[in-house]
Amino acid sequence: MHNFSRFHGNVRRCCQLLLIITLLTAVAFSQSWSNDPKIESRINSLLKQMTLEEKIGQLNQYSAGSPTGPGTGRTNYEDMLQKGQIGSLFNVTGPRVNELQKIAVEKSRLKIPIIFGLDVIHGYRTTFPTPLGMSSTWDMSLIEKAARVAAIEASSDGIRWTFSPMVDIARDARWGRIVEGGGEDPFLGSAIARAYVRGYQGTSLADPTSIAACAKHYVGYGAAEGGRDYNTTEIPERLLRQVYLPPFHAAQQEGAATFMSAFNSLNEVPASANPFTLDQVLRKEWKFRGFVVSDWTSIGELIPHGLANDGATAARKAILAGVDMDMEANLYFSTLAEQVKAGKVPASVIDEAVRRILRIKFALGLFENPYTTKPPVVGAPLAKEHTDLARTVAEKSFVLLKNNGVLPLKAQQKVALIGPFADNAHDMLGSWRAQGESKDAVTLKTSLEEKLGPKVIFSKGTGILESPQDTEAIQAAVEATKQADVAVVALGEASNEMTGEAASRTEITLPGRQLELLKAVAGTGKPVVLLVFSGRPVILNWAAENVAAILETWHPGVQAGPAITRTLYGENNPSGKLTVSFPRAVGQVPMYYNHLNTGRPLGTVDDSVAPNAETPKFKSRYIDQRNSPLYPFGFGLSYTTFTYSPVSLSSTSFSAADLNGTKKLTVRAEVKNSGTVAGEETVQLYIAQTGTSVVRPVRELKGFQKLALSPGESKQVEFTLGQSELAFWNLDMKNVVEPAKVKVWVAGSSDQGTPVEFTIN
Ligand code: NOJ
Repeated sequence: MHNFSRFHGNVRRCCQLLLIITLLTAVAFSQSWSNDPKIESRINSLLKQMTLEEKIGQLNQYSAGSPTGPGTGRTNYEDMLQKGQIGSLFNVTGPRVNELQKIAVEKSRLKIPIIFGLDVIHGYRTTFPTPLGMSSTWDMSLIEKAARVAAIEASSDGIRWTFSPMVDIARDARWGRIVEGGGEDPFLGSAIARAYVRGYQGTSLADPTSIAACAKHYVGYGAAEGGRDYNTTEIPERLLRQVYLPPFHAAQQEGAATFMSAFNSLNEVPASANPFTLDQVLRKEWKFRGFVVSDWTSIGELIPHGLANDGATAARKAILAGVDMDMEANLYFSTLAEQVKAGKVPASVIDEAVRRILRIKFALGLFENPYTTKPPVVGAPLAKEHTDLARTVAEKSFVLLKNNGVLPLKAQQKVALIGPFADNAHDMLGSWRAQGESKDAVTLKTSLEEKLGPKVIFSKGTGILESPQDTEAIQAAVEATKQADVAVVALGEASNEMTGEAASRTEITLPGRQLELLKAVAGTGKPVVLLVFSGRPVILNWAAENVAAILETWHPGVQAGPAITRTLYGENNPSGKLTVSFPRAVGQVPMYYNHLNTGRPLGTVDDSVAPNAETPKFKSRYIDQRNSPLYPFGFGLSYTTFTYSPVSLSSTSFSAADLNGTKKLTVRAEVKNSGTVAGEETVQLYIAQTGTSVVRPVRELKGFQKLALSPGESKQVEFTLGQSELAFWNLDMKNVVEPAKVKVWVAGSSDQGTPVEFTIN
């Protein structure tokens, strides 16, 4: 027995050592570009040869293809390249990339290669689900694989830099760009940020299939007031550090080569000229050594913000704050040289910005391999293994919000397929599509017909937006439903026009007459399966009460049809969980599960019914709506059920000093598949701390694990809680573990579970 436990102790120590070595090697790989003596000496010798104009040339970036914002009016890129006046181009793809590179590399004096960027957001040629959809998988290895595929495809076409991941925390479903991120939670958002960076950058930036990641939009952009895009943000420092900065820090720690400074003003200082976030936090505290690119014309926008009265001042404030590259504003190009000569901008500041940009160009191996020699991906058919992965990711991103037993469907049932998303390839691709093409997207109609043949009766019903034909078309959909056993109704938001950048909404309902269509179809009495295609949480109150099943499918990418069909028929058991809360009313937003308790929480007030005359007053509540979301963060059903054992802790009392050191506690629970089919569950660990120097959220996610369980099978899950999970930014703005009472839940959603407690003394 004694020998046995010593043997186990040795094995454990060996494993720990191995883990530490693996982690250190991973960090060493991912960050190897940041302080490589060879790269540094090449930068130094190149810098010595550069004129001021050539240095400033490296700081300019232009969109030389179809614009993703308002243009600068410049078109003479070939001439500028030859003169060494451009550091980066974007929105260029195909053979044009090599053509332009050839000018930089063969015709400019110093032959410095261009870094080509693009918004490769959820796939390059092979379109995956939108980032919000991908986040709902809670599967970091899948997200990493999807990002790797995007990197392989994009790099093949000479794109070595993506403006992704967007790691903005978003708590407001009105904001169109909620679709581009990983949801409302900083812990999950940080894990997702790391997964994207690993996928894009691979084990080394120098690998020709790696592309540099860009953590954006630094920072606070997701907190836009009123959910209106580009709007003001006011985020106190503690909230910034606690909620908005962590995913950026995670991206940086994982080795992200670049950051993008955001459009928004943050605490009255625009993020693209904010010395606190760009210099103090990013450079001084985190020691980031890559470069920062502005967002599209965000340096010029310092003028309407009111931070500058002219372009020269805007450029000066941006570069002094730490923005190295000017995307599209053309202000570094047109004003910096003169300002350096006049002594208004130190030459050393320009040198440092150039250093950071060259560092990434060297790290990517662009000086050795400036051209792509791979076959073009644009225009080529999609690779089978890439579409297979796209289908898997889509299947795992679906969130089953309701099911009264109608799902999975039975093969013998006749299906009325209704709605503007049923046979709509265009809207399967989502906001941002890089080189994705609608023709590659398989629609639900195509897949269902393949499976069921004439047992599918298709009737579109309405368009996405209201049109004059709606009344008649709704009637036709009702008639189609009457001939079927079940209706599958595909409704939602137009992917490009209603979600993503510049697509904020004040009403987050199903647009046009789609709800009317749903009600009419449900009015036949036939069971209705609602499929929601959206880039944000939409209000689904009526559906939640009145239809048989709801599956949130987001905008699922090229494999939409097969993924949904397999899910409808149980070949895929849905396992996605929400990463954003679904409100009951737009008046509830901003809405997020990890809110503070207030001094007047609902307490014993029954929130399971709408407030009425009997509901106690003087509570933090609405008089016309419940407090809770319709569907909370972490929620998602399955075709099976999972039961959770009580939670056990390794001990119930700890000292803050120990936990601020290396001490950790272990949290264990058993999860059982108590249903009749195999399924996957995302087990979530939450904590809540009270008695602390500043108040803490009612719950905070601090761990998650995905379990695959066959019917009847149980597995034990084990989490550890230590300094990094228990510390928070306290009253003295120190990130420490404080004495507290801590509740711990292990559950399948942010609103479930029975807590156990421990104390930190
Ligand atoms: C503006 C967007 O805010 C940003 O996300 C994007 O990367 C740039 N345009 C480039 O297209």
